[in-house]
Amino acid sequence: MKKVLFGLTALLLALIQFSFNNAGLLSILPSADSLRAIYNRPPAEWPKPNVDKDVKWKELGLLPKPPVSLQSTEAKNMIELGKVLFYDPRLSGSNQISCISCHAPEMHWSDGRQVSLGHNQMANSRNAPSLENVWYYQKLFWDGRAKDLEEQLVGPISSDIEMHQDFKALPQKLTKIKGYLPLFADAFGDNKITGERIAKALATYQLTFTSRKSDFDYFLEGNTKRLTDQQIEGLHLFRTKARCMNCHSGPLFTDNDFHNAGLTYYGRAKYEDLGRYNITKKVEDVGKFKTPGLRDVMNTKPWFHNGLFDNMEGVMNMYNAGMPQPKAKGEQVNDPLFPKTDPLLKPLGLTKEERLAIIAFLQSITTEPWRIKAPVMPM
Ligand code: HEC
Ligand code: HEC
Repeated sequence: MKKVLFGLTALLLALIQFSFNNAGLLSILPSADSLRAIYNRPPAEWPKPNVDKDVKWKELGLLPKPPVSLQSTEAKNMIELGKVLFYDPRLSGSNQISCISCHAPEMHWSDGRQVSLGHNQMANSRNAPSLENVWYYQKLFWDGRAKDLEEQLVGPISSDIEMHQDFKALPQKLTKIKGYLPLFADAFGDNKITGERIAKALATYQLTFTSRKSDFDYFLEGNTKRLTDQQIEGLHLFRTKARCMNCHSGPLFTDNDFHNAGLTYYGRAKYEDLGRYNITKKVEDVGKFKTPGLRDVMNTKPWFHNGLFDNMEGVMNMYNAGMPQPKAKGEQVNDPLFPKTDPLLKPLGLTKEERLAIIAFLQSITTEPWRIKAPVMPM
């Protein structure tokens, strides 16, 4: 009797599992319909996500507006100046590299390379992140070493392997370009060029970098046909079984925090990167990197801080396995710096269909890049 009961339960479970796995393929199955009915309701009424106790999460939601007014003439002039500076290779020592060399608008302000190439084609050790929605981050760079956009930009301009330009000498250099004077006058009231003003204009311009409204946003606004059954299944998995919401939550799919996703490459000279630890020197920060937002992610490969991954099915396989969990060997056992993968990452047991559904969902938050006209360079 027990055996029969056991067998019946197993059969029932298998059936539920089967209908769930195929929810995206056979839309007549009740589970796809009921998932749709659940997710057609406002996000506040969605099922609770699968996040661990103590995790601070926010529900996914509509693309927010950036915190910059594009209306006032003052702001418009500042943004126009920032745009010219962003495109101008004369901000670099060699006069050949501009911000767009590594943050190209047609690639969602990233560069499509594994790691960026800067001055004299020297390779950076990290992947250039997309600057879309960059205003949202509380700290900048993969390791959070800059607190805001104005502080951030002195880095790339003066870095030997990026733009290699003495930042202190930059105002004088630009003052010699007559066409810049009226642009600074319009933005600041007088035509004095200072490092602070260059930083302010570039930072303000970057506040305008947003994603386009995606199928997911239209879906949230009630246009429920914008997501396929497979994408709704992916949305549900993203929030539940796949545990993505433990880190990629809120309207921009990031918790604004740092985690070790197992990609420290500890002890492997070429790739080793201890991430946030290099800045804070706190043992618990070894191998932590900023959680990147995921809007438009299907268009911004290669991915991760080292740009070593360019196939989303591979990325999903890696998450499904719980990401790399390096084991300390020999001497390493007593090494306090031996990196620990975040315990929020664990094997997920997702089927192939489920992994594909999550990728389909990521596609629903991905849009075409904006078409942006390059500004005329001042002479
Ligand atoms: C040679 C390539 C290169 C150039 C040129 C370059 N960047 Fe970057 N940028 C990068 C890389 C690589 C990173 C990530 C570095 C890191 O996190 O350690 C980055 C990071 C950033 C970030 C942080 C983004 C985030 O999500 O934390 C901002 C903002 C940024 N760059 C703006 C600029 C601006 C403004 C300019 C022009 C003044 C510029 N960059 C020039 C390659 C470049
Ligand atoms: C423990 C927190 C955490 C969880 C859970 C998590 N991620 Fe991430 N994710 C990160 C961090 C941190 C990075 C960057 C790590 C690095 O570069 O070393 C990242 C990077 C990514 C990237 C690369 C983005 C880019 O622009 O380079 C994708 C795609 C991604 N995650 C998708 C997912 C999906 C899908 C899930 C659920 C299956 C998930 N993540 C679960 C923290 C997490």
